[in-house]
Amino acid sequence: MTLEPQKRTKFGSKFGVVAAAAGSAVGLGNIWKFPYEAGQHGGAAFLLVYILCVVLLGVPVMLSEFAIGRRAHANVSGAFRKLTGNNHWIGIGLLGVLTAFLILSFYFVVAGWSLEYVAQAVSNNFVGKTPADLSVAFTDFTSDTYRPLFWTAIFVALTAFVLLAGVEKGIERYSKVLMPFLAVILILLSIRSVTMPNGLEGLKFLFKPDFSKITPQVMLSALGQAFFSLSLGMGCMITYGSYMRKQNNLLQTAVQVTVVDTIVAILAGVAIFPAVFSLGINPAEGPQLVFVTLPGVFTHMTGGYLFAILFFLLLAIAAITSTISLQEVITAYISEEFHLSRKKVVAASSLLLMIGAVLSSLSLGPYSSLMINGKPLFEVLDFVTSKLFLPFGGLLIALFIGWFYKADDIRDELSNGGKLKSRFFPIYLFLMRYFVPLAILLIFFNELGLLR
Ligand code: TRP
Repeated sequence: MTLEPQKRTKFGSKFGVVAAAAGSAVGLGNIWKFPYEAGQHGGAAFLLVYILCVVLLGVPVMLSEFAIGRRAHANVSGAFRKLTGNNHWIGIGLLGVLTAFLILSFYFVVAGWSLEYVAQAVSNNFVGKTPADLSVAFTDFTSDTYRPLFWTAIFVALTAFVLLAGVEKGIERYSKVLMPFLAVILILLSIRSVTMPNGLEGLKFLFKPDFSKITPQVMLSALGQAFFSLSLGMGCMITYGSYMRKQNNLLQTAVQVTVVDTIVAILAGVAIFPAVFSLGINPAEGPQLVFVTLPGVFTHMTGGYLFAILFFLLLAIAAITSTISLQEVITAYISEEFHLSRKKVVAASSLLLMIGAVLSSLSLGPYSSLMINGKPLFEVLDFVTSKLFLPFGGLLIALFIGWFYKADDIRDELSNGGKLKSRFFPIYLFLMRYFVPLAILLIFFNELGLLR
């Protein structure tokens, strides 16, 4: 029974769809990036703006991406051509493919770090080290020339392997089993962290907002982090939407994915900040925060040896379900638009991504020529994608849905052809038409200082 002209893969069960999309969303963004962004941007003030962005912008944009993908049954760029019959909007897709490349160029590096930390945990390397020692060890490792690249290469290869195994048998199967595991470990870590001396200070930092800390910079960071963490603004969820079935409930899926993603980020915060205050670590320490704080917690906990191994292993797993989704954007685009086999595309893109990752990893070491404006390439890639390209992509998607694409068609898609109630639809349309674009523009302008 072929429903589609070209036979495209599909996700299997309903739970599988949620697991795959949540697998994409839950990743280093939640556990590595969220805590350090929150740490640098005022803790609870950041969390508050972040949650507003997630609810008011994240959910509607995710819903739109799912709908665009499922209606078109095509890759991120082809989807816009199919829906409009012309090429005017395919730029959103091209920007998305470029963004996937740029994100993966630093994401693969951090994913590699998580493997190194598995190895360190196995060889019991954290014991007896002070936070200062752990911080030095982290910097030594990440600024090394070869060691991070070794792990990055392994991670790139693992991702390619799953991508070749296909969407349903690869991505879906693993996500379903392993993600709940991560949540359990985070809960155990949170309990240990909160009960450390002075741990409550950390909870206050995370949950008691100081409104004066909400600056334009905090708002842009929270916006970018919301898009990054929910995998939005570059067509990742368009691509995954294209593998969904007609009977999947898109709103329900979007809400479930968002809730899971947000809970994991907050749990990571609860696991980290109490320990940060207890161990006397600076919350604004940056990208090394998780890699320094949590090893410190493990050494203070019964069974810490085992928990450390498990935690970094699961972090790597959370990362791989995300790298897969990012590279799938590239793979689906090139293989469909240029009629190349998945095998060839995965091989070629992996090679290219490895080059990107080598450059961004080396930029953290002694290769000062890889600096842009005095910042390592690694940081620049992160900044440009999270704070510019993703929100900009979200803005374009909002303009497309709100002002260009026919509202009836989108309603038809979201209600599965009228089978589901669409009471929420007017609110959704209002958000996409006015609120999302205005909020993104205001945050951009505000950051640029144009509103003062
Ligand atoms: N959301 C993932 C994380 O939090 C990363 C990710 C996967 C992503 N796909 C994406 C980020 C698409 C932006 C766009 O780790």
